[in-house]
Amino acid sequence: MKKILAILIPVVLIAGFSVYKIAANATTQPKLGGLMDKKVLVAYFSWSGNTKSVAEKIHSQVGGDIFRIEPVTPYPSDYNETAYGIAKEQKDKGIHPPIKNTDVSSYDVIFVGTPAWWYTMAPPVMTFLSENNFEGKTIVPFVTHGGGGGYTIDKDMANLAKGAKVLSPFVVYGKGGASVDKDLAEWINKL
Ligand SMILES: Cc1cc2nc3c(=O)[nH]c(=O)nc-3n(C[C@H](O)[C@H](O)[C@H](O)COP(=O)(O)O)c2cc1C
Repeated sequence: MKKILAILIPVVLIAGFSVYKIAANATTQPKLGGLMDKKVLVAYFSWSGNTKSVAEKIHSQVGGDIFRIEPVTPYPSDYNETAYGIAKEQKDKGIHPPIKNTDVSSYDVIFVGTPAWWYTMAPPVMTFLSENNFEGKTIVPFVTHGGGGGYTIDKDMANLAKGAKVLSPFVVYGKGGASVDKDLAEWINKL
């Protein structure tokens, strides 16, 4: 009897621990649906840090690579100069400012993050989408805004990234509130 117990007790303990681990992972790790075996990139532009914060959270949940889309000429740090000066002019004239090198050719799924700028995506993101070849790739948009919402940024992205499939965007005010990690996990699980 003692011998049987000596074998049974460790077996039960190991089995119990494994079930606990699986259950713990199920609640903290997004399932990632069809993304599981794809090459994933999180690419984002951010001027004041909100989109960067959301991009890093997405990256920590989906893995893959992450990079910041950077204009060759950085925007000024002054809000008025950026918003009412350069960004407004770029928006009005349809300017896609040059950006530092990007290459999406080795990725299947590209999360593309932007702040809402003048009712659409920021101009460097327009450059990113129109300069790269997105044929056959999946774009997953995420947008941070200052109260105006996501506008039609997902559709604007689809117009620029020819041949891409554009999924439903994650849209959040600022960096998102206390529930942003949970909200992101729910959105990612539905993709
Ligand atoms: C040039 C500029 C234009 C903006 N235009 C809008 C807008 O049209 N609608 C809106 O809701 N917020 C607008 N905002 C606010 C930003 O979308 C918001 O603060 C965003 O979270 C900033 O992201 P970031 O910190 O990654 O740059 C604008 C901000 C700037 C600097």
